[in-house]
Amino acid sequence: MDRTPLWYKDAIFYELYVRAFRDSNGDGHGDLKGVIEKLDYLQDLGVNCVWLLPIFPSPLLDDGYDVADFAGIHPDYGTLDDFKELIKQAHKRNIRIITDFVVNHTSADHPWFQAARNDRNSPFRDFFVWSDTPERFPGARIIFVDTEKSNWTWDEKAGQYYWHRFYSSQPDLNYDNPAVQSEILEAMKFWMDMGIDGFRVDAIPYLFERDGTNCENLPETHAFLKKMRKYVDEHFPNAVLLSEANQWPEDVREYFGDGDEMHMAFHFPVMPRIFMSLRRESSNPLRRILQRTPPIPDNCQWCTFLRNHDELTLEMVTESDRRWMWSQFAPDPRMRLNLGIRRRLAPLLDNDFAKIVLANSLLFTLPGSPIVYYGDEIGMGDNIWLNDRDGVRTPMQWNKGKNAGFTDADKTFNPVIDTSPYDPAHVNVADQMADLASLYYLTKNMIAVRKVHRAFGWGDFKWAEPSKPKEIAAYYRSFQSETLLIVNNLTSRKQTVDIKLAEEQLFFPPPDLFTGRATGELLDGSIRLELPENGYLWLKLS
Ligand code: GLC
Repeated sequence: MDRTPLWYKDAIFYELYVRAFRDSNGDGHGDLKGVIEKLDYLQDLGVNCVWLLPIFPSPLLDDGYDVADFAGIHPDYGTLDDFKELIKQAHKRNIRIITDFVVNHTSADHPWFQAARNDRNSPFRDFFVWSDTPERFPGARIIFVDTEKSNWTWDEKAGQYYWHRFYSSQPDLNYDNPAVQSEILEAMKFWMDMGIDGFRVDAIPYLFERDGTNCENLPETHAFLKKMRKYVDEHFPNAVLLSEANQWPEDVREYFGDGDEMHMAFHFPVMPRIFMSLRRESSNPLRRILQRTPPIPDNCQWCTFLRNHDELTLEMVTESDRRWMWSQFAPDPRMRLNLGIRRRLAPLLDNDFAKIVLANSLLFTLPGSPIVYYGDEIGMGDNIWLNDRDGVRTPMQWNKGKNAGFTDADKTFNPVIDTSPYDPAHVNVADQMADLASLYYLTKNMIAVRKVHRAFGWGDFKWAEPSKPKEIAAYYRSFQSETLLIVNNLTSRKQTVDIKLAEEQLFFPPPDLFTGRATGELLDGSIRLELPENGYLWLKLS
């Protein structure tokens, strides 16, 4: 394992759902041993940190985000020994492992909640948030609007209402209770002692509740997260905390603190704007949101993504943009879920190869460390007829054999995608690994190129001045003596574009980072570039 501090600034992340990745024992559910089997694949792709969806014992009413035991492994996935072996094998390949850690709530099955609901005098009663009326905290929005009518649910046994920001099967923990805080930190230590490299910390804006607020991003929440960071730094200085705060940039900025809170945060608002920019053939949505994005401390990093295991969330767009996004990307109401769209990358972009690759060009070059969602590197499809978000969590398609090579079992936990053009006969890893023009190879190449240019992870970001600023998203990434010019043609038409070369004195056309070939024509103070339909160029200016 390399010991580089701030390793996450340059890392390529890969998000995977253990249940869906590879089944090693033929029971139809993916497992940790299955992930171990596929580590060579991930290493070959160039990934250096894997984020696992929750792996803890759970009734799985929210795919493991309903934790019933913070210090165990779900029996379908294997054992703690399997997990230790996974870490060992991953580290051997220079791949780090982080898991989801759900700090805001537990499952209603968790022994803490069982004790709390059964006995008013139990020390665990105060682990959760109770009320005699469902009227408290009216300012807090409901997140799962399609399922939940209130953030309060009456509990017959407890004789009170309990508070929950997500499903009613996920009671919120009471962070005003110091015992909750220390139990959670202890649980984190349990996993870090095992050698894990950090956590994707789930749903952090909602830890505290206060009257007269919307119960999000409260100062108390930041204070606790700083305490969490201090604890992690003291015990495991190389571990990373990646925060899930689905908020506007100025609010997410607060989660970095002064470099003493979360190391990383997803850039939720950028994500839908990548899709908007592609569909509108305009860089404006991206420009506006990046302009609205405050600088972050040097030891922090954004995390960029195109898709993940949830619906493509549209919480961070305006009401009218949301309606537009639905009309463009979710014409069938089945495609919508809560305030988002439950579809995968390839189907969202009509399986248009050039557009999918262009989306990846943006993913890998905008500020932040990129995350690839399992299966998107081969352009997997979705199944909108499955429940909730299951349609974007179907088995990984390894080959065109039985169950796409995911399992030998006759029945899989979720059906393999079986309709053309996304069925395993058309989309699978084995075929794409044998085809140098495949999405797999293009993704792998982008990862490889990105890894040797530190400007991507460490560099400044500055918009360039192309002659067609709307159609062309062009920007500089620069770090120390390295300056890269990234040019993305957002349109489905060929484009010739002149870009002003502000500071750079070029005597020869710059090399393309992929081919090394000199590219473009130098004019007086600018460079003229030709881009194919939805084409992109990554150039090295110095
Ligand atoms: C996060 C997860 C989501 C889960 C929710 C509740 O938003 O990404 O999958 O349902 O938290 O834990």
